[in-house]
Amino acid sequence: MSDLAHKLLQALDKAPVADTSVAFPDVESTVMLGALKSLASRSMVTYETKEEDYWVLTAEAEEIVEKGSHEMRLLEEVTKRVEGLKLSDVAKVLGASGKLGQQKAFKNGWVKKDGDKLVASVTSTPEDTTADDLKTIQATGTLGDAKELAELKKRKLVNKVKKVTYSVAKGPEFALEIQKLETDLTSDMLQNGSWKKLPFKPYNFNAEGAPTAAGALHPLTKVREEFRQIFFAMGFTEMATNQFVDSGFWNFDALFVPQQHPARDLQDTFYIKDPVKADEPEDKEYWAKVKQVHQDGAFGSIGYRYPWSADESLRLVLRTHTTAVSTKVLHQLAKDPKPARFFSIDRVFRNEAVDATHLAEFHQIEGVIADYGLSLGDLIGFMNRFFTRMGVKQLRFKPAYNPYTEPSLEIFAWHSGLNKWIEIGNSGMFRPEMLQAMGLPEGMQVHGFGLSLERPTMIKYGLSNIRDLVGHKVNLSFIENNAAVRLDEDLV
Ligand code: PHE
Repeated sequence: MSDLAHKLLQALDKAPVADTSVAFPDVESTVMLGALKSLASRSMVTYETKEEDYWVLTAEAEEIVEKGSHEMRLLEEVTKRVEGLKLSDVAKVLGASGKLGQQKAFKNGWVKKDGDKLVASVTSTPEDTTADDLKTIQATGTLGDAKELAELKKRKLVNKVKKVTYSVAKGPEFALEIQKLETDLTSDMLQNGSWKKLPFKPYNFNAEGAPTAAGALHPLTKVREEFRQIFFAMGFTEMATNQFVDSGFWNFDALFVPQQHPARDLQDTFYIKDPVKADEPEDKEYWAKVKQVHQDGAFGSIGYRYPWSADESLRLVLRTHTTAVSTKVLHQLAKDPKPARFFSIDRVFRNEAVDATHLAEFHQIEGVIADYGLSLGDLIGFMNRFFTRMGVKQLRFKPAYNPYTEPSLEIFAWHSGLNKWIEIGNSGMFRPEMLQAMGLPEGMQVHGFGLSLERPTMIKYGLSNIRDLVGHKVNLSFIENNAAVRLDEDLV
């Protein structure tokens, strides 16, 4: 324990300390506070904090206290000379102080002009109130005359400072000696029984504790987990999405996306250089049917009627949507068709220009529902239930186009913060020429919908630039400190 704490205890032994800055003028208030806190934690003292304003002199004012005010110094110079002080000599004799003193001395009526000279207009030495006031402030920290104080402040002779002092009294455990307090209860103490007598440092329940250097979940991970729970609660099964590279066949052809569709352009899709080609799909019959649907039409569709290329369908791509995964899962379902619900949340890639809201890779949240006799009304009803669970209560749907769904609907939500409708997703009923080619029965329909994971996450965390969420510019302390997620009203 510090010397200061001991000195404080000795002072208190005689009398309470009303003002620590008087009793210990050389001790800074922060240092004093440290000693007080440790003594108070042992209940050896109690203290109260007092904050008061006081005034200190500037360097110029200190000089005035020493040598007299500018106006007094001028008057002295003037009276020293029988013939007076030449106006042109004021600055020479008194420097900068001369000019300052001249004004004030005129105002006080101490000097007057006589031709080109200054002569005294008082016979005895007047009181130097400026210097006297400053002396008072130096001694007491303040001045009774508030107007004069304000004037001195204006003349930049005094400055206000805050002073923190403490009044201290004995506490219930007051003693002159400071006991060492134990901070740890050891097994030895328990075994030899010394714990019964040893003084322990009391718990500080206000201490915040040292932050532990632990890993943190990325906001995208947290929001994804919330979505997963919503899907599980609604009876969905998670699809395996651990394959970023897929063939054009599963990403496009099986989805009835024609081979000359702009989405398949280099500008929109990343193609793999090595290896260039995927293996042919195992289900040759299905492969042939997809070709037939595109080229000649089937299952009630007239097709696109172009020469379909097997090579094009075998080009390897970074999947552009998770619907590539859904398609594989539906193809699997066709072996034993029955009502089912699947979802996935994972990464997709698009060859897009990067800007504040777009990156070349992002996450898609996707759901598909297969059942007999589904209608568009069912899809809209489902969307309403799903988004209500996310906290999005007002939805609107707009007819849209996807090669693989008909009808297709864009999903808009009312954003109360932005005060407008914003697009949040895309959905539709998968086309019969896609589903029946897989072998799903005619009476079975499949709904699908997708949205990005980044968008609701950015809204949730109030981010306007996607680069604050993903990539090398992300502020790590944001990742470490951001709040837990509950999808609710404030999502949109
Ligand atoms: N694949 C669509 C997209 O990338 C989303 C979607 C999935 C639409 C399923 C309809 C059905 O936006």
